[in-house]
Amino acid sequence: MTIHSFPVFNYEDMVNGAITPDHVFDTLRKHGYFYLTRLEQVVPPRLFKSLHEKARHFFASPLEQKMAYYIGASPNHRGYVPVTEKGAYSDEKIRAYEAFDIGYDSAEAPGRGFKLIGPNRYPGHVDGMDAALQAYYNANLRIGTELLRLIARASQLEDSHFDRYITRPASQLRLIHYLENDVLVGQDDASMGAHTDYEVFTIMHQSAPGLLAFDQVGRSWKNMPVFKNTLLVLAGDMLEFMSGGHIKSLLHRVVSTGEERYSFPFFMNLDFDTELTVLPAWGRSDKSVVVGHHLLGQLYRDFPYIKERVDSGQWVLDFAIPSHNEYEQI
Ligand SMILES: [Fe+2]
Repeated sequence: MTIHSFPVFNYEDMVNGAITPDHVFDTLRKHGYFYLTRLEQVVPPRLFKSLHEKARHFFASPLEQKMAYYIGASPNHRGYVPVTEKGAYSDEKIRAYEAFDIGYDSAEAPGRGFKLIGPNRYPGHVDGMDAALQAYYNANLRIGTELLRLIARASQLEDSHFDRYITRPASQLRLIHYLENDVLVGQDDASMGAHTDYEVFTIMHQSAPGLLAFDQVGRSWKNMPVFKNTLLVLAGDMLEFMSGGHIKSLLHRVVSTGEERYSFPFFMNLDFDTELTVLPAWGRSDKSVVVGHHLLGQLYRDFPYIKERVDSGQWVLDFAIPSHNEYEQI
């Protein structure tokens, strides 16, 4: 189904097989994204509502209270990301958003000089924030796992092919709050610079327009509409890699309308140490990518605190930080 030329899938049909894996794969190949509706069985409308409420409550707190959960003071990349934690994006003239990040909640992984894995932590003053975010994280992990089963089937693999790599995934949930402002009004003044996402898929829920995606067919930026109680799925870097480039990682950015806006992306990834190769159905290549290395290599650019930890030797990496993201191209 399409709404105003935007591809939309009914989640129930997707899970019960009424929509073929080939169709889902071809849609990602053509567009790089699709919308998901009929999510009641996995994300009830009250869960979307509760997520919004907790986000609004937390971001409305005084800065000192939010900074008590500063991500740069966490051992495993969890917590509050202030406006000042600005990544190296040349087209991001003025940054007008703050965020709150969680990941897969688990015991810390032993034997590493750096940690993206470990327990979540939540602000105690926002009642029920932990339960709402955890429920939303789990729902998205379930959707992401289903999507990977479809990719496996479209690639002539067992349904369960990726399940072995989803035991403690490097998947993050991010609450993003775009601040109301009267500074960023031009279309070219990005409030989040053009980039691709580093994981397999991004599963995103938004409260208002502002997201633009680079449309491969029209070779131009396209405004992505917002539909109530739906999710938007974007192809990420690791999907591009394992599909041998048949699916492209979707280039996107956010422009400010000056209005307050919330966006809740869930970045579906595999376990940190998963070494991916191109799936046999999509070509032959000797290259491989460790998903966690790609992720951390890009977070180095996005988070000044990570750059400082790596550059100062506090986090010792056993891989090289790349100079750029090779998937990020028009
Ligand atoms: Fe993104």
